[in-house]
Amino acid sequence: MTTTTVTRPVSGQLMAPLVEPVTFAGLSLASRFVMAPMTRFRSPGGVPTPEVAAYYRRRAEQRVGLIVTEGVLVGHPSAGHERTVPRMTAGPAKAGWRRVVDDVHAAGGRIAAQLWHLGSLRDPVDGVRAWTPSGVREPGRPASHAMTLKDMDVLLESYAEAARVAARAGFDAVEVHAAHGYLLDEFLWPFTNRRTDAYGGPPARRVAFPAEVVRAVRTAFPADRPVIVRFSQFKERRFDGRIAETPEQLGQILTAFADAGADAFHASQRRFWQPAFPGSARNLAGWAKRLTGLPAITVGSVALTREFLRPGGPESMSGLVERLTEGEFDLVALGRILLANPAWVTNAADGNLDMISDYRKEHEDSYH
Ligand SMILES: Cc1cc2nc3c(=O)[nH]c(=O)nc-3n(C[C@H](O)[C@H](O)[C@H](O)COP(=O)(O)O)c2cc1C
Repeated sequence: MTTTTVTRPVSGQLMAPLVEPVTFAGLSLASRFVMAPMTRFRSPGGVPTPEVAAYYRRRAEQRVGLIVTEGVLVGHPSAGHERTVPRMTAGPAKAGWRRVVDDVHAAGGRIAAQLWHLGSLRDPVDGVRAWTPSGVREPGRPASHAMTLKDMDVLLESYAEAARVAARAGFDAVEVHAAHGYLLDEFLWPFTNRRTDAYGGPPARRVAFPAEVVRAVRTAFPADRPVIVRFSQFKERRFDGRIAETPEQLGQILTAFADAGADAFHASQRRFWQPAFPGSARNLAGWAKRLTGLPAITVGSVALTREFLRPGGPESMSGLVERLTEGEFDLVALGRILLANPAWVTNAADGNLDMISDYRKEHEDSYH
């Protein structure tokens, strides 16, 4: 008996609740699977090419309900320096995005643009220093520019402009990137936010600027299309970094986002099955939903190998679906497994496990 024969009916049955149509924050989606945002360095001059459009379309054709683009730089020069990371507002980028959106829509998919500012993780090139809340950077890195109140106004307009352009390009949603140690997360994290004004101090003050960004984006983006906020505890370069030590602190941060107009949360963690706080099995997305009542996306090491699809414990598809059906979160984002497997959702749902490649690091170098 082959592995395929054994598992074909099982993975499909297990996954059934994930591959049915759903409405999420007002969006009709073909499934509960989301493509997680992943920077790919494939947009020369910041302009997404037809190859980029085809890459996203391939996932939409295979029952990924919502695609979140790779991080897209907002217009201000401090946002980022990389020449192949896409931009939103640069002239020719606008037509590039229209094509991406049209291709995804033609495949029956939905797509959100992730709006990004690198903060201290921008290299100081082109005569522009990194912009950060307090000038704090990692040891050995050049000093960064501590943002003034006027700088904040400038960036609010950059985010708003990016949201307006995204709306005109036809994006179904935008996602504000406030995770992983980039600018907005640097405001949330006490280590990088040492401000003594209204934008630093306790959680409710550290969230003030990121929440103003969400408000600016919400105001600029059509009211009938959702604004998602992505946040995390961990930082790309500090896995133990935390924005909130307790659910109460997290509640203060997320409530401020909700009050500013956030429609949903994308709670980034490295392993979805890990509890966010001691004393409860609830993960970070579970807490976001519980603390705000807003819908939430979970993510983190979902389905990296085919083993995940066999009936198993909390770290398997069974555990994931159990949490979903209990209402802990609403959507499930897939990152790395979708790099090598554009058709992962279809193949897993149909039990075609022999057509799925387990994730390997070198998949991050391929682009198809
Ligand atoms: C190559 C790569 C690029 C990524 N780029 C981004 C990004 O631009 N924005 C973001 O919020 N997260 C980014 N992430 C994190 C993913 O969105 C996701 O949270 C992470 O890969 C965990 O999900 P996974 O275990 O399913 O891969 C990236 C991850 C990878 C592997």
